[in-house]
Amino acid sequence: MDFSLSEEQLMIRDAARDFAQTELLPGVIERDEKQEFPKDQVKKMGELGFMGMMIDPKYGGSGLDTVSYVLAMEEISKIDASASVVMSVNNSLVCYGLQAFGSEDQKQKYLTKLASGQALGAFCLSEPEAGSDATSQKTTAIDKGDHYILNGTKNWITNGGSADYYLVIAQTHPEKKHKGINAFIIEKGWEGFEIGPKENKLGIRGSDTHSLQFNDVKVPKENRIGEDGFGFKFAMKTLSGGRIGIASQALGIASGAYELALEYSKQRKSFGTEICNHQAIAFKLADMATHIEAARHLCLKAAWEKDNKKNYDLSSAMAKLYASQVAMDVTVEAVQIHGGNGFVKEYHVERMMRDAKITQIYEGTSEIQKIVISRGILNK
Ligand code: CAA
Repeated sequence: MDFSLSEEQLMIRDAARDFAQTELLPGVIERDEKQEFPKDQVKKMGELGFMGMMIDPKYGGSGLDTVSYVLAMEEISKIDASASVVMSVNNSLVCYGLQAFGSEDQKQKYLTKLASGQALGAFCLSEPEAGSDATSQKTTAIDKGDHYILNGTKNWITNGGSADYYLVIAQTHPEKKHKGINAFIIEKGWEGFEIGPKENKLGIRGSDTHSLQFNDVKVPKENRIGEDGFGFKFAMKTLSGGRIGIASQALGIASGAYELALEYSKQRKSFGTEICNHQAIAFKLADMATHIEAARHLCLKAAWEKDNKKNYDLSSAMAKLYASQVAMDVTVEAVQIHGGNGFVKEYHVERMMRDAKITQIYEGTSEIQKIVISRGILNK
């Protein structure tokens, strides 16, 4: 088995690392504090090809593999998880969903802009009463011949205020349950589409999370993705890939916090020596490094399966479940190793601990991942 990365993959990783250090690190604490969306940084990510990494160059993407995406997501998440969730949603939920299931016209009109970073996308599935229970969509899209009329509310939408295009999941035929659901492309500014206030969050505070309201929004039929009734499968298939992105985000938050704790432990002295020389700290570092490496392998395995056209539903759920737990555990330990300084914003690890929590919640909670995994291993 060959674990080595190609020259190209290493180059992408290094480019993402450089970008994160030079463009994301300055101001990351202030953006978190002020809940400021990293607008200029996201624009540069688009120019560098990080917003449509796995998309065919003929649609404005970078034409890279999922392994490269995992490597870039880890590096960017090490420094700024608010920026990396913007990247993850645009890449895996919006661009990849459109590339895999959109019509040629939809690709030409929307994907080319989204993948090249000229436009930003959002994925709108969650509702006040349908987060985990995704089949219970209350948003309706009523068929009116050449268009649909969309009504309802979506909640906790990443890129909710900043996006240009929104993939919205809605119920068309309630009697058919999940088989009656459709997915649509909605443009910002369409009549009846309102963006609610920005959420004041525990973590990933630089990212832009809103509720959305649709009041009799007229959606042309050509903006439906796939056949009538394909919307739930579209959401599930897209989320399987999205989970690789969020698992890589969790991995990056963990490895970023670990690297800071490791460096700190080599400099901070107590009882006459650097604290890394105390076994209490050295053992923590050993555990953190081991769990991070295991999470990295799960992320890369899921990415490899996706690149090799295998079913990655199980591996992406496992990667997300495990990496998000590692992100939580490692960031708590990183704060502990920093002692009092860990509680102070300028040392970054308290932000990482806050950011880690969402990786156990969005794109399916840890409990949802366990449903997917247990059904997978029991062949249900
Ligand atoms: N690929 C293709 N089809 C799939 C699938 C997949 N990965 N998973 C399920 N399906 C299909 C099933 O085969 C079934 O179809 P058939 O009836 O034709 O056989 C259909 O979908 C319904 O499946 P289930 O009976 O398994 O559905 P369920 O109601 O039991 O729910 C679930 C399954 C896994 C719990 C699902 O509801 C789920 O994943 N929930 C979590 C949703 C989620 O991740 N929400 C987060 C919002 S997005 C977000 O956070 C984005 C952001 O902003 C960061």
